[in-house]
Amino acid sequence: MLTMQNIKTHYFFTDSDALLLRELRPMAEDHQDRMVDEFYDYLLGIPETATLLKDSVTLQHLKETLKKWFIGLFSCTYDNQYLLTLQRVGLAHVRVGLNAHFVNAAMNVVRRFVIELLQEHYPNIQERRKFRNAAEKIIDINLDILSASYQEEELKKVFLSRSLESKLIKAAERFTYGLNLILVIALAGVSLGVVALFVWDILHIFRGDVEKGILGALGTLLIIWMMIELMDNEIKTLKGGKFNILVFIGVIIVALIREILISTLRHDMLETQIFLAGTLLILGIVYFLVSKSQQERT
Ligand code: HEM
Repeated sequence: MLTMQNIKTHYFFTDSDALLLRELRPMAEDHQDRMVDEFYDYLLGIPETATLLKDSVTLQHLKETLKKWFIGLFSCTYDNQYLLTLQRVGLAHVRVGLNAHFVNAAMNVVRRFVIELLQEHYPNIQERRKFRNAAEKIIDINLDILSASYQEEELKKVFLSRSLESKLIKAAERFTYGLNLILVIALAGVSLGVVALFVWDILHIFRGDVEKGILGALGTLLIIWMMIELMDNEIKTLKGGKFNILVFIGVIIVALIREILISTLRHDMLETQIFLAGTLLILGIVYFLVSKSQQERT
């Protein structure tokens, strides 16, 4: 955390600079109205800054605060209280959404005003240089503190969005994990249903409907086998493994094979059986292509 003392040291601002500025105070007081008028005329001439100053009551108030700030440049007391006041001004600008560029540009107006004032009052170049150096240092220090508020606000934004981002990602991950868990439980439930279906098919055999029983049981067994694959795949995904699309295509193929088995038993129309066989062929090709592309990637 920077203190006013640190900042003054970094700008080589000495006590004699402070005393020189103190000497300039009467001159600054005499010309404060002119400086404030020039400052706001400049800002009112720029559309982006003029919109922030459209309220005449605010403008009058701002002119008064700017005068105080201007005289403060030549006050000789540059302590931590001074730093705090400037930080508050900086934050006020950030709050109203003022672009930092305009603070820099406006400070340039102040700088030029002070330099011209010195030229008017101190014709001796040696003397003028001393005052000018001190004035330039305090203006730079002011600009530094006013701009720092912007950087700190930017940093806060970055950190806020970063922590928000990681929290969102974590929440999304937990949500997906929860969904996968529900899926596994649902798959287990469905598997139990398929087992019941298998028992039902076996019962057909005992009732004398051997052909229907055996073919039905065969189809159901295929489904149980695919259910095992599906659950296995889900558990692997839960443990952080890769999602395997092939298993899903396999499930559809098995369901279709079962449908074909039943269809022949039902003596469905030829068109239906051709349609089922055609679909099976297409799915077979898709399965082959996907597994080939997976092999190439590994
Ligand atoms: C050299 C640069 C500048 C200095 C030294 C300065 C000084 C100040 C001061 C002393 C205040 C009062 C802060 C408070 O109430 O605590 C203030 C507020 C304000 N300044 Fe500046 N200003 C500068 C540049 C600008 C510029 C370029 C604009 C552009 C329009 C601007 C617009 C405002 C506004 C709108 C407020 C009121 C903020 C609020 O409502 O809280 N200032 N400024």
